[in-house]
Amino acid sequence: MRLKLVNIKEIATYDPDSDSVSRVEKQELLITDGKITAIGSNLGQANTEIDCQNCLVTPGFVDPHTHPVFWQGREIEFARRIAGATYQEIAAEGGGIRSSIAGVRKADYQELRQAVKNRLNRFLNLGTTTIEAKSGYGLSTESELKSLEILADLNEDHSIDIMPTFMGAHAFPAEYADDPDQYVDLLCEEMIPAVARQGIARYCDVFCENGYFSVAQSRRILEAGSQAGLIPRLHADEFEDSGAAELAAEMKAVSADHLMAVSGEGMNAMAKAGVIATLLPGTTFFLGQHNYAPARELIDRGITIALATDFNPGSCHIQSMPFIISLACLQLKMTIEEAFTAATYNSARAIGMEAKIGSLTVGKQADVIIWGIKNLMEIPYNVTDIPIRNVIKSGQPVFRLD
Ligand code: NIG
Ligand code: FE
Repeated sequence: MRLKLVNIKEIATYDPDSDSVSRVEKQELLITDGKITAIGSNLGQANTEIDCQNCLVTPGFVDPHTHPVFWQGREIEFARRIAGATYQEIAAEGGGIRSSIAGVRKADYQELRQAVKNRLNRFLNLGTTTIEAKSGYGLSTESELKSLEILADLNEDHSIDIMPTFMGAHAFPAEYADDPDQYVDLLCEEMIPAVARQGIARYCDVFCENGYFSVAQSRRILEAGSQAGLIPRLHADEFEDSGAAELAAEMKAVSADHLMAVSGEGMNAMAKAGVIATLLPGTTFFLGQHNYAPARELIDRGITIALATDFNPGSCHIQSMPFIISLACLQLKMTIEEAFTAATYNSARAIGMEAKIGSLTVGKQADVIIWGIKNLMEIPYNVTDIPIRNVIKSGQPVFRLD
């Protein structure tokens, strides 16, 4: 099965060989059995041709930090925040992550699966062809296993590829409020072994933050996860510096995420250990805050930056990677090329998938966006208008605007 993309104005992709963004004009792209087999001119016959209408072609976006397994939205918190309450105040009053738990625990499997599936459709229509997705709104063994099972089920059934993460350490459920260490025991002694036996999750993530999991508790959980074969990653220093970035370095986490309040020492430790910084400017924006992560300082230290949405019902109800690219340019002061690389190739690195996805390179899986704009520069320029015409996943057209 050969599919050829013709009449392309510009192919924009990070190029791992030259370590730069390449933008070539007037080339064709050939896909054979789901993989990119040639980029060039006069590529010969194919079974099907798609006319790109003299527009831009890029790789599909990779979103390496999402929380799509929740039951209901928390728009009420958005209204409270614009009236002056902070995320932490709302959480302290019983809102926040804890208020999402009952819904996931009670939800019928099929109904929750359908809710997540609808969110995956939206990701795909916005050009995201692979996501990392976390459990973490059940916070009991049974409901965490159910959340991961839904992700595995949808990974089979839906075109989007899902990299699953166990995040039982997202908050302390109310029944453990008086003895948080007992919940850490449950995580290490019961939940992580059960998740490992279930065999779905690839990563283990912890919300390491003052008021949530301490560095010592996070270390214990990530170590138990590592012993069970789950690779560590971390929500680190989102609101306050708690030494989480240093822990990410110590644990050789693949990625430390958020980092709005990361310290110089934390950044130095990450640089030394080669931890990727996954930045989530959508969260800062959605919370109505202004203390964006210090992207330029991270880049100056040689740290690789990935971008993600952090899509979740509370702190960031945003699924659009093009919008995240705009925010990265405007607020993180990243160049368009840096932001585009961070949303494709570097985000694939943040989930260990860069050999297979994240760039338009011969031999890679054909995850491709065909745009309604002419060149790369127009992606952040369009901000919330997402001019995508077609999305191709593993060589199959999965979205078409008409
Ligand atoms: O990444 N920071 C921790 N977890 C989420 C928030 C989840 C929620 O509020 O429901 C985040 O921002
Ligand atoms: Fe998150």
